[in-house]
Amino acid sequence: MRRAVFPGSFDPPTNGHLDIIRRSLPLFDEIIIAILNNPDKNPMFTVDERREMIQEIVLPMSTKSCAIQVDSFSGLTADFARERQATAIVRGIRAVSDYEYELRMALMNRRLEPSIETVFLMAGEEYSYVSSTLMKQVFMLGGRVEGLVPAMVEDRMREKTRK
Ligand code: PNS
Repeated sequence: MRRAVFPGSFDPPTNGHLDIIRRSLPLFDEIIIAILNNPDKNPMFTVDERREMIQEIVLPMSTKSCAIQVDSFSGLTADFARERQATAIVRGIRAVSDYEYELRMALMNRRLEPSIETVFLMAGEEYSYVSSTLMKQVFMLGGRVEGLVPAMVEDRMREKTRK
């Protein structure tokens, strides 16, 4: 069983995340999208809201050969991946600027759990500048994020800012 964990904050999930999930489907039998429950951050969406949005978007993407699960975790990614008996951690690389941070995480995760490899997938170039942080910032300042996040996420962002 080739099981991968795709960890992240997903606050909110973007089309860049979906692109990475789509690209990982042919590589694994199961992908667990793992939402980090990070009490230090001041998120736009609660973990439950993120999980609900991701489930709605990605569960229909499951294929015959690859099942998708959505879960959340606290603590170390390496511990979560080990507990779930994953053999890989998937991370997306958008541009060279991501590489150094991702390399450090991958090496640390390998030190923590040598049996789990990090697999880097290159996001489509149309998502090279798309990050959750930028999406929130642009949205909050009245800019358009259409086409960069799923339509349902954009609706939820609108609902949040109305409250
Ligand atoms: O979507 P993000 O914010 O870029 O994801 C970062 C994430 C969640 C993958 C990273 O912060 C993480 O793995 N956090 C869990 C704590 C941990 O394992 N830290 C050591 C990694 S080297």
